[in-house]
Amino acid sequence: MKTVGVIGLGYVGLPLAVAFAHEGCDVIAVDIDARKVEAIAAGESYIEDVPDEALRAVAGHFHATTRYSRLADAEAVLICVPTPLTRNREPDLGPLIDAARGLAEVLQSKQLVVLESTTYPGTTRERLAPLLEESGLAAGRDFHLAFSPERVDPGRTDFTLRNTPKVLGGLTPACADRAEELYGLICDELVRVSSPEAAELTKLLENIFRSVNIALVNELAMLTDRMGIDIWEVVDAAASKPYGFMRFEPGPGMGGHCLPVDPFYLSWRAREFDMTTEFIELAGTVNQQMPYHCVAKVQRALNDRGLPVKGARVAVIGVSYKPGVGDLRQSPALKIIALLRELGGEVLYHDPHVPALAEFGLDSSPLEELLADADVVLIVTAHPSVDHELISRRARLVVDLRGVTRSSEADNVVRL
Ligand SMILES: NC(=O)c1ccc[n+]([C@@H]2O[C@H](COP(=O)([O-])OP(=O)(O)OC[C@H]3O[C@@H](n4cnc5c(N)ncnc54)[C@H](O)[C@@H]3O)[C@@H](O)[C@H]2O)c1
Repeated sequence: MKTVGVIGLGYVGLPLAVAFAHEGCDVIAVDIDARKVEAIAAGESYIEDVPDEALRAVAGHFHATTRYSRLADAEAVLICVPTPLTRNREPDLGPLIDAARGLAEVLQSKQLVVLESTTYPGTTRERLAPLLEESGLAAGRDFHLAFSPERVDPGRTDFTLRNTPKVLGGLTPACADRAEELYGLICDELVRVSSPEAAELTKLLENIFRSVNIALVNELAMLTDRMGIDIWEVVDAAASKPYGFMRFEPGPGMGGHCLPVDPFYLSWRAREFDMTTEFIELAGTVNQQMPYHCVAKVQRALNDRGLPVKGARVAVIGVSYKPGVGDLRQSPALKIIALLRELGGEVLYHDPHVPALAEFGLDSSPLEELLADADVVLIVTAHPSVDHELISRRARLVVDLRGVTRSSEADNVVRL
C-alpha cells in the first residue's frame, strides 16, 4: 500500500487526496488552514465535488494535518497550492515557495514530488527543484520530480479524475516512470510528455484556448448587440457544422481561479523571451469589458421602460462564476453588482449555492420574493436548479446574460 502526501487541500488537492485514499493509499494531507484540517477531521467537506460521505468513507487512512513533518513518511508528495497573480498581474509563487521550503525540510531520498499547480513553463525545474535541493538531495538523482497539471472542472460529473486523461512530464525518464506508476492508480489514461516544461505549457494552452475563444464570441456579442442580430441564434447555427467549429458561449465575463489568472503566467514568462503574447492580452481585455457591457444592457432595458438604474430594484440570479457550484472567485457577478450599486441600483440576489455575499452585506433572497418585487431580473449565472422559465413568466423585465430564455419570444425578455 502506498503512502501519498498532498500539500494544499483546496478544489484540486482535496478531491485528489480522496481519490488516492479511495484506492487504498494512506494519505497525509497538509494545509496551512487549520479550519480546513479540522473540518476534514470532523468528516465535513467544504468542496462541493467531495461529499461528506466520501470523506468519511476513507477516514481510516486519511490524515489531515497542518504539519509538514509527517510528509517524511510518504512515498510521493503532490503539491496543489494556489498560484495567483500579484497586484501587478505577475505570477505570485509565494505559496509554492513556502510549500517547497516546508517540504525540503522533511524530504527523503527516493521520494517522488509532483507539482500540480498551474504555472509557467520552467517553474518545476528552475524554481521548485532548487528549493527542494536545499534538503541536500539532488532532483532526478536522489528524489524524483515531475509536473502533472490538474484538469478538474468543479461541478462536472461526466468527466472525473478517473476518466480524464492526465498529462505528466518528468525531470528524467525515471521521474516520469514513477509519476506514471502513481497516477495509474487513480486515472485510466495517462499522457506522458517529454519534460515538465511541456506539461506546464499544455495546461496553459488549454486555458488560453478557452479564454481566447470566449473572448472571440464575447466580442461578437457586443457587435451583434449593435447590429440587432441574436448572438445565441448565430452560435447555435454555427455549432451545427459537424467539423472545424467548436462551440463557446458568450457571457458576462470570465470567472474562477483559472481563466482570469493562468494565461498571464505565460504572458509574463514570454516577456523574458522578448515576446508579447497578443492573443492572451487581447482576450483578457475583451473579457474584462463584458461586465460593463452587461450593465449598459440593463441600463438600456430599464431606460426603454422609463426607469433609471438609480432606485431601481435589481434582482441578480446566480452569483457564482459557473453553474452548479458556489465558487465566487473572480465571478463577473460581483463586478456587475458593484457597478449597479455605483449607479444607485438596489441590488438583491438569489443563488441556491451562495447563501450570503458578505462583501455586499447581502443574503440570498427567496426567488419568488424577488420576482414579485424587482424592476428587473438579471440572469448572470444559470444554475440548473433554478427555474428560468418561471422567471421569464413572472418577472416584469428580464435581462438574460446566459441565453437560457432563448426559446422565449416574450417582450419582457432582453438577451445578451
Ligand atoms: N480550481 C480549479 O478548478 C483548478 C483546476 C485546475 C488547476 N488548478 C490549479 O491548482 C492549484 C490549486 O488551486 P485550487 O483551486 O485547489 O486552490 P484553493 O485555493 O482551493 O486551494 C489551495 C489550498 O492550498 C492551501 N495552501 C496555501 N499555501 C499553502 C502552503 N504553503 N502549505 C500548505 N497548504 C497551503 C490553502 O490553504 C488552500 O486550502 C492552482 O495552481 C490552480 O491554478 C485549479
